[in-house]
Amino acid sequence: MLRHTDKFEASLSEISDSLLAPLSDQPRTWLLGRALDEFVSDLRALDEAAEGMVSGAPRPNIVEPVDSAIPTVVDGSLLVSGQQVMQTWETPLMQAMAEQVAGPDRSVLEIGFGLGISAGYIQKHRPAHHTIVEANPQVFETAVEWSRAAGRENTEIVFGKWQDVIGSLGRFDGIFFDTYPLDEAEFESHFLGGSTYAEHFFPAAAEHLTEGGSFTYYSNEIDSLSRRHQRSLMSYFRSIRMRVVDGLQPPPDCSYWWAPSMVVVTVSEPRY
Ligand SMILES: C[S@@+](CC[C@H](N)C(=O)[O-])C[C@H]1O[C@@H](n2cnc3c(N)ncnc32)[C@H](O)[C@@H]1O
Repeated sequence: MLRHTDKFEASLSEISDSLLAPLSDQPRTWLLGRALDEFVSDLRALDEAAEGMVSGAPRPNIVEPVDSAIPTVVDGSLLVSGQQVMQTWETPLMQAMAEQVAGPDRSVLEIGFGLGISAGYIQKHRPAHHTIVEANPQVFETAVEWSRAAGRENTEIVFGKWQDVIGSLGRFDGIFFDTYPLDEAEFESHFLGGSTYAEHFFPAAAEHLTEGGSFTYYSNEIDSLSRRHQRSLMSYFRSIRMRVVDGLQPPPDCSYWWAPSMVVVTVSEPRY
């Protein structure tokens, strides 16, 4: 099966008769064609979207783990172990994500403090409780200082990796997830290997969300969610909403995002 476009060719070769085996020839060919067309359409859309992207810069390897390296903030970038862990161009995205999970009388769990941009927006919605988990000791100290400001008595800052502490935190009406790989192993498995970086958190999100709660995360998606991403979500949740935030301006030397838009995903109805 071959698809030819002006810029690339894609082919699909079955190597086993067991692929879609129960189906007779016609529906089988139809489904295989649909899968190949999906790929072709995705790559064409990506190629079109690339016209509006910045060129980006290579990411250096994480030598010292992000939860032990000393952070610095330079020109609005939180740099840890040579990584651009967070940058201020994400502000409109953080604002839109905060709206999806925070509100009066709601308890919110936020994973990863970073520059505290999303934490500030979550606070604007006056949640009943706002628990923030942060793994880097210096970033944690900054978060503790931040939480001492007047009006932030509803905040609790928890030190540690979410993997180690979430078990004792209970359920929340809103969960906001935005972390960064701690080392190269996490980068490979979660960032390169997953349908989206936050996928490794989906089971924990479902387990710690109240029945009427909502979960959002840094989606790493430009204009829609891939089928793989949606399937992964649907195995933990029954409902997905999407909203695109436009006008983002990552700098040309950004090593983790290049497009002027990102999808804000709001997930609800966990499957316990
Ligand atoms: C992208 S920043 C968060 C940005 C934040 N949303 C903001 O608006 O500034 C990621 C943060 O997650 C923290 N982090 C990374 N892995 C973590 C983990 N496993 N558990 C808790 N925090 C983690 C990092 O130290 C960093 O502070």
